[in-house]
Amino acid sequence: MSDQTITSVSREHRSFRPSAEFKAQANLGSDAVYKRLYAESVNSPEKFWGRQATEQLIWRKPFKKVLDWKPPHAKWFVGGKLNVSENCLDRHLGTARENKAALIFEGEPGDVRTITYKQLHLHVSRLAHIFENMGVGAGDRVALYLPMIPEAVVAMLACARVGAIHTVIFGGFSAEAIKDRINDCKAKLVITADGGWRRGKVIELKANVDKAVEGTPTVQSVIVVKRCGNPVTMKEGRDIWWKDAWEGAPNSHKAKAFDSEHPLFILYTSGSTGKPKGVLHTSAGYLLGAKLTSHYVFDLKETDRYFCSADIGWITGHSYVVYGLLANGSTVFMYEGAPNQPEPDRFWQMIDRHAITILYTAPTAIRAFMRWGDNYVLRHSLASLRLLGSVGEPINPEAWMWYHKMIGKKRCPIVDTWWQTETGAIMIAPMPGVTACTPGSATKPFFGISAKVVDDQGKEVPRNTGGKLAIMKPWPSMLRTLWGDDERYKKAYWSEFAGQPGVYFTGDGARQDKDGNFWIVGRIDDVLNVSGHRIGTAEIESALVSHPAVAEAAAVGRPDELKGQALVVFVTLKSGQIATEELKEALRSHVGREIGSLAKPDSIRFAASLPKTRSGKIMRRILKEIAAGGLVKGDTTTLEDFSVVAALQAED
Ligand code: WT7
Repeated sequence: MSDQTITSVSREHRSFRPSAEFKAQANLGSDAVYKRLYAESVNSPEKFWGRQATEQLIWRKPFKKVLDWKPPHAKWFVGGKLNVSENCLDRHLGTARENKAALIFEGEPGDVRTITYKQLHLHVSRLAHIFENMGVGAGDRVALYLPMIPEAVVAMLACARVGAIHTVIFGGFSAEAIKDRINDCKAKLVITADGGWRRGKVIELKANVDKAVEGTPTVQSVIVVKRCGNPVTMKEGRDIWWKDAWEGAPNSHKAKAFDSEHPLFILYTSGSTGKPKGVLHTSAGYLLGAKLTSHYVFDLKETDRYFCSADIGWITGHSYVVYGLLANGSTVFMYEGAPNQPEPDRFWQMIDRHAITILYTAPTAIRAFMRWGDNYVLRHSLASLRLLGSVGEPINPEAWMWYHKMIGKKRCPIVDTWWQTETGAIMIAPMPGVTACTPGSATKPFFGISAKVVDDQGKEVPRNTGGKLAIMKPWPSMLRTLWGDDERYKKAYWSEFAGQPGVYFTGDGARQDKDGNFWIVGRIDDVLNVSGHRIGTAEIESALVSHPAVAEAAAVGRPDELKGQALVVFVTLKSGQIATEELKEALRSHVGREIGSLAKPDSIRFAASLPKTRSGKIMRRILKEIAAGGLVKGDTTTLEDFSVVAALQAED
């Protein structure tokens, strides 16, 4: 065993079995069936995935071979042809789902729109014609820079319909970020809106696009949705209103079939260093992963109303707002704005108003709800909810328990789902009808996923030993390459374990407990060296968050002459709590009690807020620079709010 393994200090042992009631109605409620299917799926993954692909997807031409694997390049469902938008829309026409709501949209100002499958099909068909008339077709790149409005879903599916590759750029990104992404993939067309609503204000999307496309020679046209009615400049010959393009476009569109491996989208993921990585996903494998995981992990039923709070600018929005859910014929609720507009109970209000049954959100949001206080939740019934989900970071056990009691009223299973932009679909998560959930653990790998905790040589470590989380075999929804940079693809994901070019490195540290549950302890790059032990950030942070005064915490290392590395924690307090020296001492003792004195922080710093990415992840790299007393030098373009960093530096 390598000495680079990670010491795990968590003592979380609570466990929640599915209730008899939930089990009885679950898509998968039998432990025996689960065991059999799971064993088959990992012992004969190709057989398993081949059968699922045949059963789950609508093919125009059947595939000949399940997998062609030349590490690190995979081709899934070789020789098959299908159309992804047909799999999300046309398949439901002429069935009982035809007039079912595909999307229920609520804008931040309170406007509501319901779009049935038949209507969504019509919208997508029209836009597909518009694309074809503009000469946008198979393989062309289309950049989408839109608010969370139905047109964003329509645009994604219309790209899929004509075989164009979409790249969705989160609406919070700057003109510079848009320009870089468009230039990297050489997009021909941009679809945007005049603006989008956020905290009662208009975000001027079109103005950002105008600035960006000054520096993007490949962009020929810009389609503009009117959302807010704010003034915009339309450039003659380049810009066209969505509504004007719309007039006269035919209502039906015969979708072409594309190869299983036809590129579906590029999604830029920040990465902590320099240039964003253009993660490429292709058609059949991606869709299968998104569809199958949605069905099982969310236990989807025909009558569900599902709300995922992620923006479509992230992979969560791609897989679990659009593709996975629509392929299953579900009703998806979309919300445009901020969770605290007009007040911090907006989510709970909408859940009651629309009778939402499933909520999928992120730990960062859950911690914000906790900080805002229980009263905002207690005003609402939340009786329609039956399942909760979490994604994006390890969920602190404290936040898990709050979510369980306050939102789920102890009735709803919580599916903590571990996955990545690169994995395309959920990889580790409970099967809510069979798996016992443990606060803070994403539990077990999904069907067909060979996840292991390994040492630096790629060899599995014993249970309860920390190491690197690796995926030992390819899976259908895996990324295929990084756009225009296959070398970086090989280096970033497939070169970690010498002599094992077929093993995928996730970048995460993890441990498996005696029951086989996986615990993500944080990013490997963030692992701390505390008194000679390598400890993941998640466990120290969770210990702090379990103190009643603490809302959020981030742990980083600071170079120290004596110890090598000193442990510095940044702590955000719950509203009403006062930052005192006594509290610092109390927190140190608390961590000592929770995980042992080796992990007692050397220094505690109170912060009004922590620097986060736009998707809500704490940027520990920046805190590390602040803790070391220096200026923040690295790339900060993915930072949500630079003033947070400025405030932390000012206190220094
Ligand atoms: C990284 C991937 C997956 C879509 C959203 C984020 C962390 C994600 C969990 C979880 C612990 C998690 C990991 C992972 N992460 N979900 N349930 N438990 N950690 O996608 O931006 O590509 O980030 O987020 O560190 O590697 P992403």
